[in-house]
Amino acid sequence: MRLSVVGCGYLGAVHAAAMASIGHEVVGIDVDPRKIASLTRGEAPFFEPGLQDLLSEGLASGRLTFTTSIAAAAGAAVHFIGVGTPQQAGGYAADLTYVNTAVDSLLPYLAPGDVVAGKSTVPVGTTAELAPRVSATGATLVWNPEFLREGWAVQDTIDPDRLVAGVPAGLEGERAADILREVYRPAVDKRTPFIVTDYATAELVKVAANAFLATKISFINAMAEIAEVTGADVTQLADAIGHDARIGRKFLGAGIGFGGGCLPKDIRAFAARAEELGRRESVNFLREVDAINLRRRDRAVQLVVDGLGGSVFGKKVAMLGAAFKPHSDDVRDSPALDVAVQLNGLGADVVVTDPQAIENARRIHPQLTYEADRDVTIRNADAIVMVTEWDEYRRHLSPEHASSLTRGRVIVDGRNGLDADAWRAAGWKYVGMGRP
Ligand code: UDX
Repeated sequence: MRLSVVGCGYLGAVHAAAMASIGHEVVGIDVDPRKIASLTRGEAPFFEPGLQDLLSEGLASGRLTFTTSIAAAAGAAVHFIGVGTPQQAGGYAADLTYVNTAVDSLLPYLAPGDVVAGKSTVPVGTTAELAPRVSATGATLVWNPEFLREGWAVQDTIDPDRLVAGVPAGLEGERAADILREVYRPAVDKRTPFIVTDYATAELVKVAANAFLATKISFINAMAEIAEVTGADVTQLADAIGHDARIGRKFLGAGIGFGGGCLPKDIRAFAARAEELGRRESVNFLREVDAINLRRRDRAVQLVVDGLGGSVFGKKVAMLGAAFKPHSDDVRDSPALDVAVQLNGLGADVVVTDPQAIENARRIHPQLTYEADRDVTIRNADAIVMVTEWDEYRRHLSPEHASSLTRGRVIVDGRNGLDADAWRAAGWKYVGMGRP
């Protein structure tokens, strides 16, 4: 099928490359000429495992092209919208400027029977508001939310755990759902659940899923707070409750909490939208989820201060990690960087390392010192703080090796990912989060 993908950021670039890899003819469109130039050269504008290969293959096959010209969308049967919906400046609600602009710019190039499939995360009610503009051209608007995780985006796009389509009522909606089934044929043939529903449900599925995941993380982090005043160990607690199949162990990793381009902004936008709908009380707990999450960053800072005897002033603190999670170079709302910035503000000589995210981190926090080499970062450090659980830090840094480089023997494990016994046995003061 011929497809267009409007917006070639994280979501759109991966979607375009993945759709070409399953045999479609895809044009990716973005207003940013630098992004398009880089994609056209086959260079992913961000770090995402597997994307580079997919891009090269797609470009070489001739099935994948990129352009800044929206006119190139003409002739495609399905037009995906993958632009960003960031948090509004000065508020919690989502900024829909890019979605509105993308849809309006597509209108002149739509033909009757085309499907416009929104993938961006939008506040419930957005699709119904946009639909009349699309219908006026004879095309059909559907909402087809994306659940990809950074670091696993390629796999999640080609082989998702479910597909959701919010469609209009009646024959028009059924036809549009059939067209989407055709787009996702390989997944549909594998019996991937394909849920066809109304607009509001499809929009809510996405924000509800992210709200649930954020709540799960903040739940275990709240337990970490209780563990800290009772001497309990939150990691053992998580293992024990995680054995209950109804609860499950995933997303019960206590530590410095969640960040990134999705969970923080999505729960805030959800709370803002619920308030507009007169249902503030229904998701009031999300404010608590947000507050718990932010407190854990402060807690990590406190643990470093305590670990260094009450002050970090003039002490060298080596920060292992800047990205909001491993396998990503994304530093948007990164808890790791937040902790680094706070320690820097307290007068610590902070040095930050990360296998992928240094350039992005430097752009938003140029005041910090960055070092690509892990061992140079920890050399002469008074304390090490592990804030992003890359394998380089979690698995491949032995306490013996660290001892040969650092000045101090304090390690704060912001992700509860290190072997506490091994570090202690090597003479280190190991400090976990929510652990005695
Ligand atoms: C998330 C959703 O998982 C995905 O379905 C949606 O499409 C986009 O938002 P992503 O932002 O890539 O994906 O990150 P995710 O893997 O969910 O992690 C989010 C944050 O939570 C990270 O900062 C991570 O370190 C943190 N986290 C995750 C924890 O603190 N503890 C955990 O147990 C799991």
